[in-house]
Amino acid sequence: MRNFAINVAKEAGKILRDNFGRKFNISLKGQIDLVTEIDLLSEQFIKEQISSYYPKHQILAEEGGFTKTASDYCWIVDPLDGTTNYAHGYPVFAVSIALVQAGRVVLGVVYDPMRDELFVAEAGEGATLNNRPLSVSQTNSLADSLLVTGFPYDIKVSNQNNLNHFSRFSLAARAVRRDGSAALDICYTAAGRFDGFWEMKLGPWDAAAGVLILTEAGGCISKFDGSDFDLYNPELLATNGLIHSEMMQLLNSSD
Ligand code: IPD
Ligand code: CA
Ligand code: CA
Repeated sequence: MRNFAINVAKEAGKILRDNFGRKFNISLKGQIDLVTEIDLLSEQFIKEQISSYYPKHQILAEEGGFTKTASDYCWIVDPLDGTTNYAHGYPVFAVSIALVQAGRVVLGVVYDPMRDELFVAEAGEGATLNNRPLSVSQTNSLADSLLVTGFPYDIKVSNQNNLNHFSRFSLAARAVRRDGSAALDICYTAAGRFDGFWEMKLGPWDAAAGVLILTEAGGCISKFDGSDFDLYNPELLATNGLIHSEMMQLLNSSD
């Protein structure tokens, strides 16, 4: 299943890369939430592959919903993480595929087709980037940290829009980035390129593969209050472990 997921993520990534910069249809799912023709092409390809190789497995895919079966296994798929970037020709996006067994993520694959970077983790087996072992950074203070975050699609209409956290972290950390692909943000934290990531309204497809890659690289995940991360609860704090409690404090302090 590891090789299968890697091959499918790479093939889907090729679909994204081949169509990048070309003309394609874009529609709105919400006020600023886009979906392109290419999200749908990539998802259709991935779902067809899973259904033909593992017809009994369940599939939860961002654009197509949930295919329920009696199986213990469920594939969680984001066919194009970073759609806004993709639609604007900003080359930061990925395919994210995770396999959950009895509620636990056992395999995670995130593929960035523009940089040909493949992040893979299997539960208990460590994480790799292009076959090299990955580990989180050693930065042990927030003041020395490079952080990354994202904003929810309801940013214009909800007060819970992350702007308060963003301004606090911008003052407390060395710098904060907003790159537009949660899956890559989490994998970059696993690779030590970022020291910490937080976001408040994620879908399971944004985080499922990334959280396994990060924990297998030695990182730490939780909700903002430090309780266990839950794939179906949208709040995620993901760090190198060393700055986790400092980030928690800031996320939980009042203005
Ligand atoms: C989005 C990206 C973005 C994050 C959003 C996600 P999409 O996924 O990961 O970085 O801030 O919360 O929904 O819509 O491009 O697949
Ligand atoms: Ca996504
Ligand atoms: Ca997506």
